Amino acid sequence: MLDTDPPRLSAMPLYTHLDRIERGLAAQGIGPHEPIRPEQLFALDQWHYHGTDAIAAAARALGLGSRSRVLDIGAGVGGPARYLAHTIGCHVTALELQPELHAIGVDLTRRSGLADRVTHLCGDALVEPLPAASFDAVVSFLAIVHIPDRPRLFDRLVRALRSGGGCYIEDLCMRAPFAPRDLDDAGRIVYANSLTSQADYARDLTGAGFSDVTVTDLTPDWAPFAAERLAAWRQNHAAYARVHGEGAYMAQELFYTVIARLYDSGSLGGVRLVARRP
Ligand SMILES: C[S@@+](CC[C@H](N)C(=O)[O-])C[C@H]1O[C@@H](n2cnc3c(N)ncnc32)[C@H](O)[C@@H]1O
Repeated sequence: MLDTDPPRLSAMPLYTHLDRIERGLAAQGIGPHEPIRPEQLFALDQWHYHGTDAIAAAARALGLGSRSRVLDIGAGVGGPARYLAHTIGCHVTALELQPELHAIGVDLTRRSGLADRVTHLCGDALVEPLPAASFDAVVSFLAIVHIPDRPRLFDRLVRALRSGGGCYIEDLCMRAPFAPRDLDDAGRIVYANSLTSQADYARDLTGAGFSDVTVTDLTPDWAPFAAERLAAWRQNHAAYARVHGEGAYMAQELFYTVIARLYDSGSLGGVRLVARRP
């Protein structure tokens, strides 16, 4: 590949070495086709900040119940969707762009006994058909930063919600302009396609027709968390590599190192946005 080739999402360090999930299950004594209790996945399938606590907070904020129909944008391997289906009992449509992650998600959901409550869709949130007014809530964790056309995405999401439905997003944002090297890393290592200020993020929601937009700056929480995560990751090097492989260790070390540095620079931030379709 030439240096000038655009970065590929699937090459981002977080999305390589996907066998780390099966290896993590094997370390718990669970074979490739065996049933899984959802709890046995929580350390492996939540690819955002604060694991299942973050998803539980979203469920509370949105008032989700067992009859809720939820759309998860950028579902990854389906961790947030399975957690909601398992703990709340709601039905979740888990939309994921990358076929490899989608396929892992389908398999884990089936083996967790949650296939009747989680529907996996493989597609691009910018083009995947979303039936009008068919969801009570939309959630998205650390995914919209990858999506280049946020106004178009929000326009599609507001239409997919019923009137009164809620939207809950946690994502990265920009607090100050990035230095050239940091900008390069944000593109290549984080695959950040839509890093803006929190105010611009909120404006895109209102521009699409969302109301009651509340914005919470998560940077004071996430920045120290990222630094501690990196230190803990390095400390646990040998134990992690023994189970998941050295390649998986190194890929995530690169990702965690860059993220910690971007927070440290003062340019990267974290944000939660909650909004409603009028
Ligand atoms: C950091 S992961 C988070 C996964 C999941 N939300 C979680 O918290 O565990 C972001 C996910 O968004 C997906 N994604 C990126 N662009 C997308 C798009 N246009 N449509 C659907 N999914 C997308 C990526 O493939 C990736 O799996």
